[in-house]
Amino acid sequence: MALRLGDIAPDFTAETTEGTINFHEWLGNSWGMIFSHPADFTPVCTTELGRTAQLKDEFEKRGVKVIAVSVDPLESHTEWVKDINETQNTTVDFPMIADKDRQVAELYDMIHPNASEKSTVRSVFVIGPDKKIKLTLTYPASTGRNFLEILRVIDSLQLTANYQVATPADWQQGEDVIVVPAVSTEDAIKKFPKGVTIVKPYLRTTPQPNK
Ligand code: BEZ
Repeated sequence: MALRLGDIAPDFTAETTEGTINFHEWLGNSWGMIFSHPADFTPVCTTELGRTAQLKDEFEKRGVKVIAVSVDPLESHTEWVKDINETQNTTVDFPMIADKDRQVAELYDMIHPNASEKSTVRSVFVIGPDKKIKLTLTYPASTGRNFLEILRVIDSLQLTANYQVATPADWQQGEDVIVVPAVSTEDAIKKFPKGVTIVKPYLRTTPQPNK
């Protein structure tokens, strides 16, 4: 069965470009993002892994460890990284899982046979410090992902975890956020000293607490 939000991210031990990794041990208490790409030496994937590397500081700032996966062998990953670094003007320094036997792809349901029998689709799983899945995304091979959107979701997830707020449609850093329904208006007024706007009893906003 496909993995769902709130499920524990399956653990595994796998060969990567940074040696053998046990996933849960490697995550430690950090947030994590595991994301698959269809194949090495393909154009969209080259831009995606390059973009992720360019955003290293942004992932680090949020305490998110990043790991990539495809069913290509280790030697292929190692050779391809040189091309990514050269063409995307960056340095890939996150591990890439060489999932030749499809262990990880199967655990995370990353192969969608009606799209491709042989390769993983573009899956993303964001995992919280509790090892639970907080976000899943699936993109087709022909569409490169928007990594700024993934960072935006991580910001929202971390705001919810830390402050009991949610984020409205199209929310961006610095904009007002929404008090989650579980917090009463009375408690919200105490909890959010920057003020609470009651648009409707069920729609209460407050300035972003960590800005
Ligand atoms: C790509 O990364 O460019 C790609 C990979 C598989 C299918 C289509 C595009």
